[in-house]
Amino acid sequence: GPGLMVYDPAFQNTAVTRSSITYIDGDEGILRYRGYPIEELAEKSTYLEVAFLLIYGELPSKDQFAHFSDEVMRHTFLHTNVSDLMHAFNYDAHPMGMFITGLAAMSTFHPEANPALAGSDMYLEDSLVRNKQIFRILGKSPSLAAHAYRHRIGRPYNAPQRDLSYAENFLYMLDHLSEPNYRPNPKLARALDILFILHADHELNCSTAAMRHIGSSHVDPYSAAAGASAALYGPLHGGANEAVLRMLESIGGVEAVPDFLQQVKERKKKLMGFGHRVYKNYDPRAKIIRRIAYEVFDICGREPLIDVAIALEEAALKDEYFVKRKLYPNVDFYSGLIYKAMGFPTDMFPVLFAIPRMAGWLAHWVESCQDPAGKIWRPRQVYVGPTKRGYVPLGHRD
Ligand code: SDX
Repeated sequence: GPGLMVYDPAFQNTAVTRSSITYIDGDEGILRYRGYPIEELAEKSTYLEVAFLLIYGELPSKDQFAHFSDEVMRHTFLHTNVSDLMHAFNYDAHPMGMFITGLAAMSTFHPEANPALAGSDMYLEDSLVRNKQIFRILGKSPSLAAHAYRHRIGRPYNAPQRDLSYAENFLYMLDHLSEPNYRPNPKLARALDILFILHADHELNCSTAAMRHIGSSHVDPYSAAAGASAALYGPLHGGANEAVLRMLESIGGVEAVPDFLQQVKERKKKLMGFGHRVYKNYDPRAKIIRRIAYEVFDICGREPLIDVAIALEEAALKDEYFVKRKLYPNVDFYSGLIYKAMGFPTDMFPVLFAIPRMAGWLAHWVESCQDPAGKIWRPRQVYVGPTKRGYVPLGHRD
């Protein structure tokens, strides 16, 4: 009956909201953004166009896209005080922690972001303000990430270049190839742009649910995005691509794969980058990412750990333990190998997931703001603690 609370661990198969943004069929391995198959978008679209599609629901016209991309690229600069904030960190601070801090800091610099300061929920009604917040978050995310990285390697921050595309500008600011007059390799920028498309949204995953949950209190989107980034930081979620690289490095070589899989079957280790709450089939993104890996290796040099990854995948997909549990490679299994080949340190990997996922988080935030039935999220629980009992003063407690 209505009063009966059902406990479902980790909300398996429990829908907590309606959404028209992303569709996943876990059994068939289908992923569509606003009805468009991920395979088509990865091949024919660009990340910023996909961000527009996710947030506003339709592919942009030429004029809409020109305006949108110009606005985003005009908001790529960081306030000097955010830059000062970045310099306050230890040189070896984890870039994801710096990224999250920078996002939260943005909520203090934009009075319109904090309704308490603005005295109303004005950003809810005022789509102009909301769009400005979208442009800032999309524009500044790569800059925050690049700044955190440059701080880590003890190099000055590179100002963003408005005449470059979104992915090119990010690579330029990283300048991690540190060549004089460095201009990003256009094929590398395209590979990164496709990776951004593949990571842009994924229905109600842990971090997107966090974005909707935090946003349901009507806090500003910068603070909500900081919270969503914190969820993505976890090794079971967006931190998995970093965990995969550490796993592959610990395995070391193809000959050690059978022994490692034995340890996984004895539950001593987890096969990171494998398994998924929804996909009980090959993650469609992983297929595309594996192909991109070889394109990037042609440009940046082959990452030898790919042999261990391929051997792991081939062995696991033939092993009853994994087949029975419908465990396949997920989006994180191959992405880290690409980022390593591109020269990124492993602790930048979750940041490289957060940047593109901003589009999905913002799409879900806008959808929840526009939901007339939208209320503050207040999940219930099944109480299993002690029944009523009287207080015993300290002196009478043994
Ligand atoms: C992402 O939700 C999203 O969409 C996330 C994401 C996105 O785009 O936002 O797709 C991105 O986070 C991908 C997932 C990245 N995480 C990892 O690769 C970490 C390793 N994966 C596992 O931790 C796990 O598969 C999860 C967390 C991804 C899913 O866990 P579930 O749905 O809770 O599955 P489960 O733990 O109930 O597993 C079912 C069975 C269990 O066996 P039994 O205990 O019943 O015998 O499969 C086993 C699990 O032990 N299992 C694994 C395993 N994943 C599940 N065994 C070994 N290695 C694994 N990786």
